[in-house]
Amino acid sequence: MAKDRVIIFDTTLRDGEQAPGATMNLEEKLLIAKTLEKMGVDVIEAGFPAASNGDFESVNRIAKAIKNSTICGLARAKKSDIERTAEAIKPAAKSRIHTFLATSPIHMEFKLKMGEEQVISMIKESVGLARNLCPEVDWSPEDATRSKRDFLFKAIETAIDAGANTINIPDTVGYITPEEYFELILAIRNNVKNIDKVVISTHCHNDLGLAVANSLAGMKAGARQIECTINGIGERAGNAALEEIVMAIKTRSDFYNVVTSIDSTMISRISKLVSTITGFTVQPNKAIVGANAFAHESGIHQDGMLKNRQTYEIMTPQSVGIENTQLRLGKLSGRAAFKDRVKEIGYELSDEAINEAFLRFKDLADKKKEILDEDLIALIDDSLVNNQSRYKLIDLEVHCGSEKNSRVKIKIKIDSDEVETSLDSVDGPVDAIFTAIKNLIPHNAILDLYQVKAVTEGTDAQANVLVRLKQNNRIFSASGADVDVLRASAIAYINCLDKLNKI
Ligand code: KIV
Ligand code: ZN
Repeated sequence: MAKDRVIIFDTTLRDGEQAPGATMNLEEKLLIAKTLEKMGVDVIEAGFPAASNGDFESVNRIAKAIKNSTICGLARAKKSDIERTAEAIKPAAKSRIHTFLATSPIHMEFKLKMGEEQVISMIKESVGLARNLCPEVDWSPEDATRSKRDFLFKAIETAIDAGANTINIPDTVGYITPEEYFELILAIRNNVKNIDKVVISTHCHNDLGLAVANSLAGMKAGARQIECTINGIGERAGNAALEEIVMAIKTRSDFYNVVTSIDSTMISRISKLVSTITGFTVQPNKAIVGANAFAHESGIHQDGMLKNRQTYEIMTPQSVGIENTQLRLGKLSGRAAFKDRVKEIGYELSDEAINEAFLRFKDLADKKKEILDEDLIALIDDSLVNNQSRYKLIDLEVHCGSEKNSRVKIKIKIDSDEVETSLDSVDGPVDAIFTAIKNLIPHNAILDLYQVKAVTEGTDAQANVLVRLKQNNRIFSASGADVDVLRASAIAYINCLDKLNKI
């Protein structure tokens, strides 16, 4: 018998972006959306169009660019929100409005200041309007898991009668347990009389570390859409991680008996892209995409692996797109070999982007003997993400030592103008660089985080520097990659200022 298909609804660009510091600009969102489409994501929640003109613009651009995935926009239960969302997603080949209203006593009393009757009539109105403007409507009773059952059932029935095609059950505050969520989805199936007309969806937050387990329990109880994000980013402790959901379904298809349309070999690539763009590093022991997820350290395990990989490996690194890191390209590799390898690791670049990346590759190959796939990914993500920046580092000279002040001379291009300055600092070379940049690009943000990571092993490895700046309680992150850690620091700082000044 054919297995049921579970719809993968990715909300990295909406709930994911709600994580403090995960702000993404339009080009970054577009790049993530294209990668999600390529990996086979069914629905991309591209943003919250009524939140700002910037959000509207990104959802609208994504709606124009994406052909295979459904493009969804989030709207509160307000006429103006719903109309703005409908306008933003209008160009999409397949579009959807996701609208929501809280149904729990605490949200209704303190946030909405509304009684049950008012909530019910607002559901009717908002879902009805959304359905008039868009063929697909996803409705969420916010804080569903803390709502009174009978009222929740009535609210869902109302939304279905008003035209919703998907009913999403958010565990907004990450409170429920897998057994309870399983039982809640079953109860909805058994008590809402028109429930057979819609797809039931899960949307679980990770406050107790249960988001993935809850989503899978909901799916086991009959939900056929899962809302999730890459690397599990999102409000507070985040959302259910897409990569964990997809690999659980694939690896344990004997138990779950469902399939998704995701090409799992794209998982590692998109995880790195989202991490580079948001500056949210992935913990080494993170399931599926952590650096140690496929590493075997103990002698007993290594011995078992050599005899039969399945002794300690339930899925292969290749199934999530991790190749054995081996020497692929070097100083003498030509453009054709470079282009081939770039394609093999999952990128589809324009000729212009290939040319730009090839120049950077040649530059890197002059400085670093072995170019591994990780180097290529860092290099390409860095140029794709950052080549839209208004600011570009042209030249950097740094002198430092234990007995003297650090001295820096820096030249930056701002749009088409080159500007330069020199400066001394008693606080070391990084302080000197950042202060010199501040003189050229004045701002009042404070440095919230500065982090250096080597992309590969070896002292000639590329450095990936993450910079996080805080301004008026908003946090911006950006990274920069270079074999020279001080250049990478300058690039990351400049990119972060570009993001901050574009808002
Ligand atoms: O967590 C939540 O309740 C949400 C809703 C907007 C669905 O993100
Ligand atoms: Zn959420």
